[in-house]
Amino acid sequence: MPRTPEELDVLRELRAKSYAGGGVFWIGDGELGVFDPDVAQKVNAINFSDLTLPDKLADLLRGRKSTPFSWKQLREAWIAQLRSLSDGEGTGQLAARMEDLLNERLDRPLDLVWVAQEVCTRALLPIVVAGLPPADAARVLRDQTFKLTRLLATEASRETFWKAARAILIQVGAGNAIRRELRGRAAGRRSRQLDLTDPVVGLLPELGLDRAVDAVTAVLTAIAGPPGAVAACLLYELTHRPDWAARLTSELEAVSTAELYSAPARVAPVTHRFVKETLRMWSPPLLMTRPVRTDISLEQAQLKVGQRYLLSTYLIHHDPRHWKAPDTFDPDRWLPEAAHGPCSHASYVPFGWAPKACIGAGLGTTQLILLCHLMSTRYRIQLSDPETVRMALAAVPMPLNFRGTITRR
Ligand code: HEM
Repeated sequence: MPRTPEELDVLRELRAKSYAGGGVFWIGDGELGVFDPDVAQKVNAINFSDLTLPDKLADLLRGRKSTPFSWKQLREAWIAQLRSLSDGEGTGQLAARMEDLLNERLDRPLDLVWVAQEVCTRALLPIVVAGLPPADAARVLRDQTFKLTRLLATEASRETFWKAARAILIQVGAGNAIRRELRGRAAGRRSRQLDLTDPVVGLLPELGLDRAVDAVTAVLTAIAGPPGAVAACLLYELTHRPDWAARLTSELEAVSTAELYSAPARVAPVTHRFVKETLRMWSPPLLMTRPVRTDISLEQAQLKVGQRYLLSTYLIHHDPRHWKAPDTFDPDRWLPEAAHGPCSHASYVPFGWAPKACIGAGLGTTQLILLCHLMSTRYRIQLSDPETVRMALAAVPMPLNFRGTITRR
């Protein structure tokens, strides 16, 4: 049976303070904790209502303003492209990439947190940028791996000059790879692809190259962490709940892959509930800091430009004022008639808040259902030392000592 997770002191203190009070309180100088679902929604809506991209580097250097470009317009272009990328064919291709990555990792003891991260992030990469020449693909992958290493570090490591320099070099290498791709596609030297880089190519004249590179890099950063972090927690729940693992297997063995790829949540409702509950129970990242962009004057939150506010989907998902038995993992709470479902729509926010909510919510959910399908019908996990596995709440929720071997069924 799963044990109580280990949590950092800072999170324990925030949790106690939030649940004892109204969920909105000053944490330090100029930093407001906004852990009430309704206030978080309102503050975010006001703060980002007119979000535009930062000025172009060339304009910054000349001390002038760039033509504003709305973040919303860019998001809409990505969301439209994601609809094409997530049809039955695209979902099948995503599943095939995940299967190939799992096949490369069979029959030897591995850190399962890394397996989850690599399988999810690498399978998503071609959705963000496809068709890169091998050397540039390797640069982007190195950057993704570097970001994951930092995210998953369980102990604080001292930042030396050389470490910082290496981090910058890796980031610049990945940025240059994206720059070459954008330029190459715009000039017709490289072929257009069905990916999230392509709408940015179309917008290059308005964006300029620097802002375009930053936009693609933002999506690359967004896929390096949260999808794999939830996937690791999902594997943890699957390996620790034989009853649920059996329910998923019997559901998923009965659906064809064609059905699964065209409507995953509809044809596999039990699995969908399991995924939703994993997203509730273990939502990453645990804390998100946001700069205050415009003065905000709400009854519960007064903020001035230059201050910051902290958000936590995790704290909202475990708030006893909004959930019954919040620390119990129970996918059946998502049944319409369940007694301890969410109190309100606002209290379930694994993908954040408008107007900056995750653009990959649908795709991320689908990928987790595909992972359930692969692990319940094609592969098996044998944990190396099941007694020592436990959950920890660090930068993201993460199972510790989660080692094991994946074999084919
Ligand atoms: C289970 C998987 C995922 C989880 C849990 C997740 C979670 C999140 C969260 C919490 C945010 C911050 C939202 C906010 O600031 O209010 C976010 C933002 C974002 N995510 Fe995801 N994400 C997932 C998958 C994906 C995927 C697959 C993609 C792309 C294909 C993606 C792209 C983005 C982008 C671009 C943003 C920034 C949106 C903006 O700033 O407007 N995410 N995600």
